[in-house]
Amino acid sequence: MSLHFLSALLGVLTVLVLIQAQDQSAPGQVNAHVASDSIPRQHVFVMLTMTHMSNKHIMLTWHVSHCQHDKICWRGFISLDCGLPEDVTYSALKTGINYISDAKFIDTGVSKRLGNSEKLSEELLQYVRSFPNGPPQFDLHIGANVWDTVKFTNLSLIKTSEIIYTPSLDYMQLCLVNTGKGTPFISAIELRTLNNDTYVTHSAESVLLKFLRLGLGSNSITNLEYRYKDDVYDRLWFTFQPDDMKQLSEPLNNDDILLQSIYKPPAILMSTAATPVNVSAPLELGWEADNINDQYYLYLHFNEVEKLAANETRAFNVTVNGEFLYGPMTPRYRSADTIFTTTALTGAATYQVSLSKTKNSTLPPIINAIEVYKVKDFSQSETQQDDVDAIKNIKNAYGVARNWQGDPCGPLKYMWEGLNCSIDGYVPPRITSLNLSSSGLIGQIESSISKLTMLQYLDLSNNSLNGPLPDFLIQLHSLKVLNVGKNKLTGLVPSGLLERSKTKSLSLSVEDNSGLCTTKSCKKKSSHVPLIASISAIIVAILLVSLGFWIFKRHKAAVTNANSKKRGSLISKQQAFSYTEILNITDNFKTIIGEGGFGEVYFGTLQNQTHVAVKRLSASSVQGYKEFQSEAQLLMIVHHRNLVSLIGYCDEDEIKALIYEYMANGNLHQHLSVENSNILKWNERLNIAVDAANGLDYLHNGCKPPIIHRDLKPSNILLDENMHAKIADFGISRAFGNDIDSNISTCPAGTFGYVDPEVQRTGNTNKKNDVYSFGIVLFVLITGRQAIVRAGGENINILEWVIPIIERGDIQNVVDPRLQGEFSINSAWKIVEIAMSCISPNAVERPDMSQILAELKECLSFDMVQRNYGSTRAMDELVSLATISETTVLAR
Ligand SMILES: *[C@@H]1O[C@H](CO)[C@@H](O)[C@H](O)[C@H]1NC(C)=O
Ligand SMILES: *[C@@H]1O[C@H](CO)[C@@H](O)[C@H](O)[C@H]1NC(C)=O
Ligand SMILES: *[C@@H]1O[C@H](CO)[C@@H](O)[C@H](O)[C@H]1NC(C)=O
Ligand SMILES: *[C@@H]1O[C@H](CO)[C@@H](O)[C@H](O)[C@H]1NC(C)=O
Ligand SMILES: *[C@@H]1O[C@H](CO)[C@@H](O)[C@H](O)[C@H]1NC(C)=O
Ligand SMILES: *[C@@H]1O[C@H](CO)[C@@H](O)[C@H](O)[C@H]1NC(C)=O
Ligand SMILES: *[C@@H]1O[C@H](CO)[C@@H](O)[C@H](O)[C@H]1NC(C)=O
Ligand SMILES: *[C@@H]1O[C@H](CO)[C@@H](O)[C@H](O)[C@H]1NC(C)=O
Ligand SMILES: *[C@@H]1O[C@H](CO)[C@@H](O)[C@H](O)[C@H]1NC(C)=O
Repeated sequence: MSLHFLSALLGVLTVLVLIQAQDQSAPGQVNAHVASDSIPRQHVFVMLTMTHMSNKHIMLTWHVSHCQHDKICWRGFISLDCGLPEDVTYSALKTGINYISDAKFIDTGVSKRLGNSEKLSEELLQYVRSFPNGPPQFDLHIGANVWDTVKFTNLSLIKTSEIIYTPSLDYMQLCLVNTGKGTPFISAIELRTLNNDTYVTHSAESVLLKFLRLGLGSNSITNLEYRYKDDVYDRLWFTFQPDDMKQLSEPLNNDDILLQSIYKPPAILMSTAATPVNVSAPLELGWEADNINDQYYLYLHFNEVEKLAANETRAFNVTVNGEFLYGPMTPRYRSADTIFTTTALTGAATYQVSLSKTKNSTLPPIINAIEVYKVKDFSQSETQQDDVDAIKNIKNAYGVARNWQGDPCGPLKYMWEGLNCSIDGYVPPRITSLNLSSSGLIGQIESSISKLTMLQYLDLSNNSLNGPLPDFLIQLHSLKVLNVGKNKLTGLVPSGLLERSKTKSLSLSVEDNSGLCTTKSCKKKSSHVPLIASISAIIVAILLVSLGFWIFKRHKAAVTNANSKKRGSLISKQQAFSYTEILNITDNFKTIIGEGGFGEVYFGTLQNQTHVAVKRLSASSVQGYKEFQSEAQLLMIVHHRNLVSLIGYCDEDEIKALIYEYMANGNLHQHLSVENSNILKWNERLNIAVDAANGLDYLHNGCKPPIIHRDLKPSNILLDENMHAKIADFGISRAFGNDIDSNISTCPAGTFGYVDPEVQRTGNTNKKNDVYSFGIVLFVLITGRQAIVRAGGENINILEWVIPIIERGDIQNVVDPRLQGEFSINSAWKIVEIAMSCISPNAVERPDMSQILAELKECLSFDMVQRNYGSTRAMDELVSLATISETTVLAR
């Protein structure tokens, strides 16, 4: 029956496995996510193998689908060798089970491993050595429940942990949690299906963790372990013969001879039995409980291995700690029979199972195999999916650096810091409280917050949040407390919130936001705002006074026409610098730090010692005054952590200058140039790509109406002291109205090599032109070459150079040779894939920036491991293959 079931599974399962080491804030924490269209709602057992000795502790990210490849769901088994190099699958020597790598499935997504390195092993060993409490120990979680705590008492040993349960969802989330006692590591994840009727617990909320599983009676010293093919379910059995017992056996090598029970213990183990040396003594086996309250289920497997004569009988009673369990038991010849407990054994420190001969039995008792399982409480449901999605978006948007891993609400002990959830154990938990106060949040209030529909407490106080207090917060109907005090929020408090605050259904705190006002207090406040508020707040506050919210509602008009003068004059009173001041700030234009779209950029220092970058518009600048105004106006209202901020400007007759925040690390072009000896590392490049995508996504999708950059290129991507990238120079951008189609640019712009050929042809611009330029930027970032490449004595577009190499599948020659192979192949392929989609000749096929951003973030997550564990050389993959096969064989 079960074989039938297994074969029915073939070609049905789709598996997605995602295992990633997490960020620096939680070193060594590992997540595994096994998802499937049809992970069987069936008993499965999941076995993790952990070997400290192998140097493949590293996690990998696998996206595997299309399980009709029987390489993955080989006979219904899903076997993942963690750390297996790409393109490698192997069949374990002893079992014949196929272990997979995902490279075969690269067309369905991105795959693969992040490898090991000597550095890692060293690190880990050092860590172990320097850790006073001894060898590593870590927790295994599945979903929102704790599954096991793995303790290494001897680092030379291989540990496995195995659990039997029925998945309730279509996916499974495994998590190895660092509990501060050593870095978790893992070698293999194996999933096997079992018959539904075996290993049943008394309640759906409890599952079984393997405690021991032994074949008794075998005194073989050559073979101590049995699994597939001896065991059709691939359970792992060890053999053991107690000192006071001896072996009885009858060779039986296949199931045809043995009449099997649904438990299907391996015939080879059932062909040997243990019996007491002293024929009148009972047969005794026992174990010590970890904890007196632990609950155990016991399974005893019997098969008579001797053909008894007519005058012989073998009969015995089974007791546990003296209490009668079953009897008299007479094992049947060549039949596997199983005695098991239907309720859990509990309440004892040690358990002793005795098989005692009944009075008229002529033969002593025997036993062939024993299994003991410990009960685990799995009553914790996983957090409701929409809440999980929303909180993960919030985490990504703000880069929250906390223990935010695994399921947000569970296990209770590991509930994400700053959250509280409604938990009753039966329905999926909901997030009821989000406290991100004093968390260094930058940017606007994330719209995903409104998706946490059961939220009662929201505390975002004491951060640097800017932008408006958004209307969508009104959608949080359960909200009782909203604290956004001590931020840089601007604009009006939504009237819906004010009303709820008035009726006392909401406790609202908005204090210490100089730019935020309720309708009444707004005007009064403005008179003293300039004295206390920050520069940008002044501008906004004044705009609010004079224009109300008109500017936000009619942005296009505001930017492009009538009121620009009025606004200009308002700004000049607050933010204008005189030419003399500019001379002071720049020390007479002493240090040129770059050249922007229409003028040179100088280093400057404000009176308060803040460093700034002053862009002086060249007199010959063809764009002239108009672009200057447009850039100033845009920057006044566009604030984002990945966009360069405008601090002020100078507008005297002959001299026009813009004062920007200073970006200590110059621009991306400089970093990629040949002269630069400080080579950007792979993960730095990925981070820059994500930052730039974030900035561009904000221009396209965060601004209403959208802003098209039109001149995206590496010299317009600036880097701050922490190597965070910000986009500069959207001075030639225009704000679009709703009539995108009819918009015809009067001023085609862009830089040769980066500008979409379509723009050159038609002169029209839209978001997809920026996407094209972004694609080129990605290629430049990956390859370290310029947009125009010198090849064969000719200048050719980078695409003409790179696409043939990509088509050959030669990723090593795509990536900047200066990295000397220090990059992860997975993320390289992924990013190439993204870049290719950006430069699609058909603009409609190019993805939106939001999608590109999401994919780049995913790409970054593949690469996280490297940051935790040091570098991975692509070459190492070959070396580690040998090691992996060896240890895998050892482990089986
Ligand atoms: C196994 O049990 C689960 C519920 O416990 C049920 O949903 C599933 O259909 C069963 N599978 C088979 C093959 O009987
Ligand atoms: C650890 O296990 C290995 C291999 O079984 C053994 O040789 C070694 O003595 C053990 N070490 C300790 C401290 O038990
Ligand atoms: C054998 O077992 C019986 C019953 O437990 C005991 O009385 C007897 O002393 C044992 N014999 C030997 C030689 O140990
Ligand atoms: C059973 O019968 C055989 C002879 O057929 C004899 O040798 C043996 O001793 C008997 N065993 C017992 C326990 O009576
Ligand atoms: C074995 O169990 C049976 C049935 O409960 C009982 O009658 C008998 O006394 C038991 N024998 C021994 C030796 O415990
Ligand atoms: C064992 O003895 C009981 C009575 O004490 C009897 O009913 C039973 O049939 C006997 N079993 C065998 C196998 O002789
Ligand atoms: C979380 O909410 C529960 C009630 O749902 C409350 O008892 C508990 O104190 C809260 N925990 C924290 C840390 O606020
Ligand atoms: C949020 O956490 C801070 C301390 O971290 C605490 O002072 C504040 O009361 C919390 N807010 C809510 C709504 O629980
Ligand atoms: C506000 O946050 C800063 C760090 O971001 C912290 O140093 C300060 O103590 C916080 N103030 C309050 C009142 O929590």
